Amino acid sequence: MIEFPKEFLWGAATSAYQVEGNNMFSDWWEWEKRISLKHLSGLACRHYEFYAQDFDLAKGLNHNCHRLSIEWARVEPEEGKFSGEELEHYRRVILALKERGLRPIVTLHHFTNPIWFAKIGAWRNRKADKYFLRYVEKVVNILAGEVPFWVTINEPNVYAYHSYLLGLWPPQGKSFFRARQVTHNLVNAHIQAYHLIRDIYKKNNLSYPKISIAQNMQAFIPRLPSLANKIAVYLKHKFYNLEFIEKLIAHQAIDFIGMNYYSPSWVGKGGSKDDPSVLRKNSMGWDIYPQGLYDLLMGLKNYNLPVFILENGICTDNDALRWDYIKEHLESLSRAMQNGVKILGYVYWSLLDNFEWDKGFGPRFGLVEVDYHTYQRTIRESARKFSEVCLTNKL
Ligand code: FCB
Repeated sequence: MIEFPKEFLWGAATSAYQVEGNNMFSDWWEWEKRISLKHLSGLACRHYEFYAQDFDLAKGLNHNCHRLSIEWARVEPEEGKFSGEELEHYRRVILALKERGLRPIVTLHHFTNPIWFAKIGAWRNRKADKYFLRYVEKVVNILAGEVPFWVTINEPNVYAYHSYLLGLWPPQGKSFFRARQVTHNLVNAHIQAYHLIRDIYKKNNLSYPKISIAQNMQAFIPRLPSLANKIAVYLKHKFYNLEFIEKLIAHQAIDFIGMNYYSPSWVGKGGSKDDPSVLRKNSMGWDIYPQGLYDLLMGLKNYNLPVFILENGICTDNDALRWDYIKEHLESLSRAMQNGVKILGYVYWSLLDNFEWDKGFGPRFGLVEVDYHTYQRTIRESARKFSEVCLTNKL
């Protein structure tokens, strides 16, 4: 049997655009329609209306924290014009979490931008940080005191790659230079937001919250252990997984390492003893490799910062496989803890089935199933099994 510490945080995550519905001032809303994406986000899970019921479910599943994001475009639908009503909505949302004993982990940017910001070049704009900070200041002024964990930016590496290098997400840029420029601007924005958030807490005589990003990390594995493959793995690990985090550490602008882990990524050519074809897969074809979580966590030990798993999960129509995935990743996590890695908590992606970006509503990541016709929620068996771990701190 495995035991987790008493104060361990257990929960699930969502992001505003993927669950709320009707985010019509966001760049994705406009883009989905323009390129005629197969599934439009539309009403998504109607979480904007049903958040209280959804938090009841999380509480019933013994979660003690919850990660969600604030939709910038709702709060600032036009440049410089902030919506008091939407700010008030998010205050109610955060209070609803607290009333249920769920500690809020709040993300300020989760892939989507206001349309007006997209029109001026979004994160390529040299003043992107200024616009972002103005929004951050509004939100944090309203929520300071209620939020112990802030995540400024979700997966800056995924965002920069998908939106500016691979051409897959809006604005479909395909330039290495642009992706670097955006990464640079995101680093700057985070560093300033970090200090701004702390200043607001200080001004209000509040104890400091913990602030980080949610960094997507992949377990890079060489197909064959050749020197060339090993060098490629080293470089990918350094630039994809660690670069952003190291910059924030150098600027002393990070309190814990927020980590999102899903799968491995195979590097180089040739066969391998862990041949990817024999690994189990999620419904989007991503390999399942719990050992990768252990390896990555051990690699973070030297930074001497606690780690918080802010996303880990599987899309599948096979709920027994979902439970195996959770269980095996928790085993990896516990092994890393036994070997000296300090871990604050584990947040599963996602509480609900939701809009999986350009893949639409097909992939089912939820602990809770959503019927997109009736919007009815149904708790899955894997959620119940996970809820036992959350309750007992034992696996
Ligand atoms: C992560 C994203 C999240 C979700 C999962 C499956 O990269 O942060 O929004 O789409 O993948």
